[in-house]
Amino acid sequence: METNSNQPTVLIGVTGCIAAYKTCEIVRQLQKASVRVKVVMTQHATEFVGPTTFRALTHEPVAVDLFDEAGAPVHHVSLAQECDVFLIAPCTANVLAKLANGVADDLLTTTAVACEAPILVAPAMNVHMYEDATTQENLRMLKSRGVQVIEPKVGWLACGETGKGALESVEVIVAATLNALGLKRDMEDISVLITAGPTVEPIDAVRFISNHSSGKMGYALAKAAIQRGAQVTLVSGPVALEPVDGAKMVYVKTAREMLAACEENFEEADVAICSAAVADMRPLHASDRKLKKGSDDAQLSTIALVENPDILAKLCVMKREDQLVVGFAAETDDLVENGKAKLARKHADMIVANKVGDGKGFGTDDNEGILITANNLIEVPSMSKVRFAHAIFDAINSLEA
Ligand code: CTP
Repeated sequence: METNSNQPTVLIGVTGCIAAYKTCEIVRQLQKASVRVKVVMTQHATEFVGPTTFRALTHEPVAVDLFDEAGAPVHHVSLAQECDVFLIAPCTANVLAKLANGVADDLLTTTAVACEAPILVAPAMNVHMYEDATTQENLRMLKSRGVQVIEPKVGWLACGETGKGALESVEVIVAATLNALGLKRDMEDISVLITAGPTVEPIDAVRFISNHSSGKMGYALAKAAIQRGAQVTLVSGPVALEPVDGAKMVYVKTAREMLAACEENFEEADVAICSAAVADMRPLHASDRKLKKGSDDAQLSTIALVENPDILAKLCVMKREDQLVVGFAAETDDLVENGKAKLARKHADMIVANKVGDGKGFGTDDNEGILITANNLIEVPSMSKVRFAHAIFDAINSLEA
């Protein structure tokens, strides 16, 4: 599983409760929203779900004991610092009481005391334990200190009784966690088609024309759209990136394959974003065998080129009133002027003009640029490509409104 510094991290604390098995699904749902998940467990929690299960799901070490990682002697501090949100689900009455009173006698509770990130707790327990005055007082104390309590719901409890004490649904817990991360779920009914990476245009069986595009911007767009709840089709040229979890991946090589994949998927899309660095030209004749020095010198020394289809321009022609098409303009100079010209020439709804050269653009983890629409210019300063992608979706969503 790909992890990188752009991914928000949620630390999930699992405590000793039968509902611990539901935490496996919370992990998966957060990962689908492109969130990195780490798990810390109490010793009692391991009686319900083994650390191996969470290790397999998260591809991260799972912490249980205060002293179990030789390389990290102050493990509770590193876990606390690494996370953007600490979610404790399910949270037992015992752990609630410890959290309320600052008791730090194991890795999970020590981490909670050391944690400066927002803390969410999702209690689950027997109805009488939940209604007990001490539990209610502990919940009040935690809330007054800014801990977000995801109240249990009324349901059938493992003890055989029915009442308030059942862990809230996975969906509600995941939505609250994404909300605490500042991730908006404002694209749940939206389908997004994204092109990414370079195209490669064969000269012969082994040689090709291509460019330095890493695909990082298109993949960041796909991740950001998934984080916001969109359905994503990512049409990707050859790149060295992991597939985006939750996206429909369509792998292509040439511009013509990319166009065909876009035409096939455009009908369903509400928004199309062309971030691919499509090779403008392709060899007129591609040999299906390797051209040899000596015998094929004429073909090797002069390669006749022919223009590739302009995918962005074609989608702009195909587009219905209810669809939006966004393109990129990689420019070294005159960003606004060149971007505006491209917006008009291609009939796009928005052009993301970004600076290339001076170490900016291709292959980097950051981006900056200007979002150009018919009536607006939004300057986006340098930031991670995932954050830049969110700025693009903020602008697209304001266009749609
Ligand atoms: N694009 C495309 N198909 C092509 C060429 C470009 O879809 N055959 C899209 C790119 O994905 C990008 C935008 O068009 O969204 C870039 O436009 P382009 O005219 O190629 O701009 P530059 O490559 O920056 O070229 P120039 O500045 O020379 O016009």
